[in-house]
Amino acid sequence: MAKYNSAMRIGMLTGGGDCPGLNAVIRAVVRKGTMFYGDSVLGFLEGWRGVVENRSMALDLDSIAGIIHRGGTILRTSRTNPQRDPQGLERVRETFEREKLDALIAIGGDDTLGVARWISDQGLPVVGVPKTIDNDLSGTDLCFGFDTAVGIATEAIDRLHSTAEAHNRVMVVEVMGREAGWIATYAGIAGGADVVLIPEKPFNLAEVCELLKRRHARGKYFSIVVVAEGATEVGGTETSGGGPTDEFGHARLGGVSNRLAEQIEQHTGYETRVVILGHTQRGGTPTAFDRVLATRYGVQAIDMAHRGEFGRMASLRGQTLTSVPLSEAIGRNRKVGDELYAMASVFFG
Ligand code: F6P
Repeated sequence: MAKYNSAMRIGMLTGGGDCPGLNAVIRAVVRKGTMFYGDSVLGFLEGWRGVVENRSMALDLDSIAGIIHRGGTILRTSRTNPQRDPQGLERVRETFEREKLDALIAIGGDDTLGVARWISDQGLPVVGVPKTIDNDLSGTDLCFGFDTAVGIATEAIDRLHSTAEAHNRVMVVEVMGREAGWIATYAGIAGGADVVLIPEKPFNLAEVCELLKRRHARGKYFSIVVVAEGATEVGGTETSGGGPTDEFGHARLGGVSNRLAEQIEQHTGYETRVVILGHTQRGGTPTAFDRVLATRYGVQAIDMAHRGEFGRMASLRGQTLTSVPLSEAIGRNRKVGDELYAMASVFFG
């Protein structure tokens, strides 16, 4: 344990889809690492690609100045999967040796942390930081970036209310959420949506139309439907946005709202429009809440490295930062529970 109390050589990367708060994590790791422990920190560029190709930048106090409020990631990101490369592990090992890394902090979701676990199982010292805009990573209660995305989606819903009302329209708003409908549920509740459709609860089109008709029957002449991109009809499949699958085998989702809107219009006769929020939910400045959460995760990650807590991920349990084995974080999603969805549905129709 003694060696972890002295200055270390730390590598860091951001992998997978970006989300607001990544720069706050980077800043926190570098600030505490350099100023408190005397570490030197190396940032690998574009996720695992930077480790495999050994492309990096030195991260010092200057490089992290003025980034806490910036979206994206100064290290950039990618969905590169070294497990697909027969030489992947060897190249990762070579980079660890060449750069004399004592630890690598991997900031990412299921895929990025799956690779982290793989290299950890090979004996390399890795610490994970949970990141997904979908907020569905197991092993932690909350991911930074989610609060920002919910704020953006809620603001969009607020704005759509007035135009929906002016035109007597149904607005179908599609938000992110591949496997879990956290953004849809939270933004739906906050924005006063009339129906919220999520992957956890396959929907029945006739029931959706009934809810809208019930609402219109009590004198309302417009409605807002929020749908997560991964929502499906009962017995149906996810709607693909086209294009190739990524290196982890995920199809690009998107467009469930188009068919839904078509069907609503056909079955109810209400004029219906679609708004797909897409990457606007991941862009721009993080909320104050996300900056604080991301900063806490970054400080926890560098402390974990110095405690020698490898093969584990920083985790928020209740209000407390702790850590869990990487294996607890990957391979399954944290879903919206029945109780929360039932509460949201009180306001449907
Ligand atoms: O996994 C997070 C996520 O934002 C999903 O909600 C979405 O389906 C996907 O990433 C989009 O990925 P990309 O940025 O590669 O288009």
